[in-house]
Amino acid sequence: MNSIRQIPDKQHPQHIIVGTRNRREFLRNALALSIFAVGGSTHTLLATILPDDIIEKGSTLTSTYTMRFSDFPVLRNVNGSVRVQVPGAPLSLGRIIVTRLSMTEFSALSELCTHASCPVDPFMNGRFTCQCHGSVFDGRGRVLVGPATRPLLSFTTTYRSGDDFVQITIPGLVTSSVLGESQTSFSLGQNFPNPTSGQTTIEYNVERQSMVTITLLSILGKEISELVRREHEPGVYRVTTDVSNLSRGVYLYRMETSTGFTQTRKLTVI
Ligand code: FES
Repeated sequence: MNSIRQIPDKQHPQHIIVGTRNRREFLRNALALSIFAVGGSTHTLLATILPDDIIEKGSTLTSTYTMRFSDFPVLRNVNGSVRVQVPGAPLSLGRIIVTRLSMTEFSALSELCTHASCPVDPFMNGRFTCQCHGSVFDGRGRVLVGPATRPLLSFTTTYRSGDDFVQITIPGLVTSSVLGESQTSFSLGQNFPNPTSGQTTIEYNVERQSMVTITLLSILGKEISELVRREHEPGVYRVTTDVSNLSRGVYLYRMETSTGFTQTRKLTVI
């Protein structure tokens, strides 16, 4: 049975914690799926749900999640749709959109347009539209309008008529060596998507307990905003920020920890 931890609404959903002592519990927490509701261009974090099942095969993990309609009532309705973030999923996958297509059918799709990896807009009028260059996909992720030529990446959904839940299965999650507690080092990942004109996500690793700050800077090093400032347990984290209010150009973001780790990367706004 999955457990759900309600998290207070935040305009910019922030961190996913993936470090614990027991390996199985560690993996469950590591792969906890965060559910977002969409309002305008913002995504509000609703809840975090732990996987029911984790299969380790070699260095990859497959995880199954049960989404109960009592927790996500929007999925009771045809055309209801929620966006979820899966720690462990490669950044090239983005978040996953779970949508009820009919009384008996659901889809689970990568949010990233297959043309140039912008996140598609929320499900509307039976379609997903990409604002970057206008590609349109149907509820199953099939291309209706280009320039995209490939369908959105899709995942298995399982629903039996009468059930009050749908299950989604996500394979190919991050390798167990990356999730290994003792093998996590400090590092700052490249934001994704990049270039970006809206929301972008930065993944970072924390090797041991420390205060972590991540700051967005102008190319001249002037602070624009603080994305992260808090104590962290060891683990893999993500922070998502919206840069749509920034002028086009190149920016920097820098991670610093109380243990002395510093790393800076470039981010491009288009
Ligand atoms: S990135 Fe979606 S249409 Fe170009």
